[in-house]
Amino acid sequence: MKALKPDTIVPGAGHFDRVVCSPSVLDGFGWIFRRPYKIDRADLFVDGTHCANCEPMNRPDVAETCRWAPESRPFGFRFQISSPALRETWCHRIDVIGYAAQRPVARVSTFCPSLHNDHLPLPPPALAERVSGVAGEHFRLQGLKMFTDLIDVLRRYAVPLRGRLLDWGCGCARVLRWFFIRDEFVVLNTKHSSAGNDLPVGCDVDPEALEWCRSNLNGCFALVPFDPPTSLPSGAYDLVIACSVLTHLDRFRQQNWLEEVHRWLAPGGYFIASTNAEFAFRSKHPHLKPNGVWKFIEQWAAAFCRPRIVKTILDDMPDPSIRWFVPEQEYRMVFQSRTFTEQLCARFFDVVGYVECGLDGFQDVIVCRKSKV
Ligand SMILES: C[S@@+](CC[C@H](N)C(=O)[O-])C[C@H]1O[C@@H](n2cnc3c(N)ncnc32)[C@H](O)[C@@H]1O
Repeated sequence: MKALKPDTIVPGAGHFDRVVCSPSVLDGFGWIFRRPYKIDRADLFVDGTHCANCEPMNRPDVAETCRWAPESRPFGFRFQISSPALRETWCHRIDVIGYAAQRPVARVSTFCPSLHNDHLPLPPPALAERVSGVAGEHFRLQGLKMFTDLIDVLRRYAVPLRGRLLDWGCGCARVLRWFFIRDEFVVLNTKHSSAGNDLPVGCDVDPEALEWCRSNLNGCFALVPFDPPTSLPSGAYDLVIACSVLTHLDRFRQQNWLEEVHRWLAPGGYFIASTNAEFAFRSKHPHLKPNGVWKFIEQWAAAFCRPRIVKTILDDMPDPSIRWFVPEQEYRMVFQSRTFTEQLCARFFDVVGYVECGLDGFQDVIVCRKSKV
């Protein structure tokens, strides 16, 4: 039988609620989902090698979140392995593969550095909750999974892991902190200078989050206005990431900001952004059902269509989460379809990839490149 390579399986929706790697024991639990499959078992892979069958775990909370897709089934899992070999590497890669009728159909993945290798502090709960709704270990784990997902996207689309990085809307560095943990994790520059000045590695509209980043991470951070332009230099970056930032901007702001990001990038540079798309919309609104012909298509031909409801963009829901800096009428909770995002980005960039549920097993990810000329 051919050995399964976990990273060739598409990412599913899902989450790790716990992953702990003590010197010789690895244990954790979580869940995995991919429409339209009924996932009935999951396997644990560590550093690409099959290690154990996961135990099933009853997850009524997840069943509720996914009840909008009755033709599918999420799978709750737990694992615990002990092996002296776990001591040998400072960071492991964990992949849990979900199977439907013996076929591998989805993956959730995370790096897992042992705790003593994570030397950076975590932000205070108020700052962490402002960007994620969680704090402490949950915040740490969430950022680590997002970082893993991001690295997977970079590798999948052959985005060079070298160059000058900007995390636009970095908040209190839920994702960005992992770029600072250890050089061999990834070689993107987190400290760079342009014409003798420090070039920011992160920017945001939230001065408190930036203050925390400046005091705790060894990089330069810039306060930017809620609307462009900014004072960041043109053509200075090779990679701009935006994790859950477009998810707060209405369609006009998204367009203006894409133009600004395009200006920041060097020719051939990449922009990678996450959006709330169909999975995010449907799991936040499990009671909503499609109308008319789509009701029947979803029921009888689930394998051939994506769940619809957001046809273009829903961008009028106020979001109070940073009301101290941006009025909630301006800051939004935004959901948008894949087609809308691809068409909007294509006005400024070459769209080179799109991964459904590609960030944190929840948001979609678009990969864009600025043309070389
Ligand atoms: C959901 S949080 C995500 C933060 C961070 N990217 C992460 O994944 O933890 C959204 C962040 O975007 C920032 N933000 C929103 N609009 C922005 C804008 N126009 N320019 C820069 N940052 C913005 C917010 O202040 C907040 O920190």
